[in-house]
Order: sequence, then structure tokens, then C-alpha cells
Amino acid sequence: MRPLTILGIETSCDETAAAVLRLDQAGPHVLSDIVLGQAAQHAPYKGVVPEIAARAHVEGLDGVIAAAMRDAGLGYGDLDGVAATAGPGLIGGVMVGLLAGKAIALAHDKPLIAVNHLEGHALSPRLSPGGATFPYLLLLVSGGHCQFISVLDVGVYRRLGSTLDDALGEAFDKLAKLLDLGFPGGPLVEKTAQNGDSKRFALPRPLLGRDGCDFSFAGLKTACAREVERLGPLTEQDKADLCASFQAAVCDIVEDRTRNAMRMFDGVWGAKGRLVAAGGVASNQAIRSLLKALGEERGYDFTAPPLRWCTDNAAMIALAGAERLRLGFSDDLSFPARPRWPLDDEAARLRPSHKPGRKGAKA
Ligand SMILES: Nc1ncnc2c1ncn2[C@@H]1O[C@H](COP(=O)(O)OP(=O)(O)OP(=O)(O)O)[C@@H](O)[C@H]1O
Ligand SMILES: [Mg+2]
Repeated sequence: MRPLTILGIETSCDETAAAVLRLDQAGPHVLSDIVLGQAAQHAPYKGVVPEIAARAHVEGLDGVIAAAMRDAGLGYGDLDGVAATAGPGLIGGVMVGLLAGKAIALAHDKPLIAVNHLEGHALSPRLSPGGATFPYLLLLVSGGHCQFISVLDVGVYRRLGSTLDDALGEAFDKLAKLLDLGFPGGPLVEKTAQNGDSKRFALPRPLLGRDGCDFSFAGLKTACAREVERLGPLTEQDKADLCASFQAAVCDIVEDRTRNAMRMFDGVWGAKGRLVAAGGVASNQAIRSLLKALGEERGYDFTAPPLRWCTDNAAMIALAGAERLRLGFSDDLSFPARPRWPLDDEAARLRPSHKPGRKGAKA
């Protein structure tokens, strides 16, 4: 294949990111990878404020793209295409990045590839040398999504199960907010749990033992809120114990659901072999360890991207763009920003013969 050099742009939530990636016969090579986080701007509000995020993308994106091009040692003329996240995400931020991508594509006469952010996460384990080969069972656990997907090839995705209510990252963030731990919440819950007693609180494990591989976290979240109400003013030990008990419940749920997802994956594809976790929550060490142990027990290789490619980044967007361009797909400059965009639809867009699977409550 002809090597493809792609600029990737990511602005769907609270990271302003740009990266340059070259895809050749040997695989992907990340030539530059810049992420400008916005945590400090959102911290006073204990969560991402869409308007602040969009403004911060406007202010930061030009500099981030310039730095990515400079680090890669390339000019726009050296690119084969420009890939930008076109959704799903916070619409203001998505529009900023997608418009920037369109402008660069138009000005330098390059193809635009409008990338589904979830496809970026789904392919992110392939960024590392020797990374995941198809097919694999993907657990996508991020701030907005929690689902199992059979990733059979680029653009061939079958959703096996989804959350019925909250995403797992959202549940971590809500607990952090409840305990006033700070922002972003997930890593702080993990850190606080290290000093806690995971058996102190008997928290529910929704859907445990049920068929299928859907998730539900609303009951767990409510149970945590009730404990906080019951305890009154919290000591540091209370917080640590609650975080440890929450994380233990989450691990039990993830293990149970993953066992079922493996059965479903084996049953349909007979392709037992690779389990992959991606998205911000995949950086949680307790979850990574349990998936690794489960993989060893069930004869699955377990892979997760390095931590910087679990959370939002543009290297994964550039890779998704390069893979699509390699297959001959690019998008019109009229492509709209999409606040919602399930990955099954993405598969249907790339492979029209593919029939989308069952839709969960959340995209
Ligand atoms: N160590 C950790 N333990 C648990 N959760 C974590 C950890 N690190 C990050 N997270 C969670 O990951 C989420 C951020 O991940 P990511 O950037 O992939 O999500 P997003 O882009 O906001 O959502 P989506 O990709 O679904 O649009 C947050 O909810 C954050 O709390
Ligand atoms: Mg994300």
C-alpha cells in the first residue's frame, strides 16, 4: 500500500488535540501527538461545561494543530488527508474541530475524513506496535459510553451490549462529585480507593448473573448517594471506603458482563482470542488487572492502549481517518457535526451491506 500521512483533530469533549500519523505496510506510526487538556477551566464546576469547552477549543486549536505539524516536521502539502472528529460529542466543540479540519482540507486541496469518535476509541488499541489484530472483542468504557462491540474489521462493528442508563465513566465522575474529590473524577476515585476497605459498604451489583452483556449503573450510583446521606459529614476514611467498595462492585459487574460477552463473541465468530479495552475508564488499573486475569482464564489475549491513548486524543482519530482513506472513503465538506452517532451506523456507512445490530438505550 501507498503510505498515507494524516492530520487528526479531536475536540468532542474537553481535550483539544491534534496528531500526525503515517500508515504504511508496517502499520501506524504516530509522528506527533498533542493534547491540551481543559481540566483547570472545568474544575470549579466539578464537570465539563459545554460552553466553556467550546470556547477553549476555539482558543487552543490553532496552536495545537501548529504544534502537531511542527513536531511531525511536515507542512500541510505533505498530508494525504485531514481527519476530524464529527461526533458524537458536545456539539459546540465538535463543530470547532470539524470546521478547522474542513478549512485545512479546502485550503490545501486534501480529502476530509469525518471520523466517528467511537471508531477512534475502537481502533485505538491498534496504535501500539504489534497492537490488536482483527477480530477482537472490545469493551468501550468512557465518559459517555459503555458497550461491548465485536470489532471484525475497519468499519465492521457489531454491538453486543450497552449500558441501559449511565456510562461507567459517568458513574465514576458522579461518585467523585458526591464525595467532593475534585475533577476529573475517575482517576481520583481510583486513587482514593487505594486506602479504603472494599467490604465496608454492601453496594448493589445491577444485572449481575443476568443473561446478555448490558450494563446498568444507576442503582449503584443511588446506593452510594444513600450511604453519603446516612453517614452525614464524611471523614477521609469514609470516602476511601466508599470509593473502594464502589470500585469492587464495578469490578464484579465488569467481570460478570465480560464473561457473557466472551460467550456471545465465541458463539458467533468462533474467534476466541482477543479482548481489548478502550476509553478513559480502561486506564483504571483494577479493571485492567481483572480483564487480564479473566483473559488468562478464558484463553483470550488482553490488550489495552497505553494510558494516553485511553482518554481522548487525536492519534486515534488520525488512525481511523487513515484506515478509512486506505479503503477509499472520504467525506464531503458539507458533512454535519453530529451530537449522537452510534458506532453501528458508522459500520453501515462504511459497509453498506452490513445490517446494524440491536440499538441499546444509549448510543
Ligand atoms: N483511572 C480511571 N478510573 C476510572 N475512570 C477513569 C479513569 N481515568 C479516566 N476515567 C474516566 O474516563 C472518562 C473520560 O474518558 P474519555 O475521554 O474516553 O471519555 P469521553 O471522551 O468524555 O466520552 P466518549 O468517548 O464516550 O465521548 C471520564 O469519565 C473519567 O472519569
Ligand atoms: Mg472519548
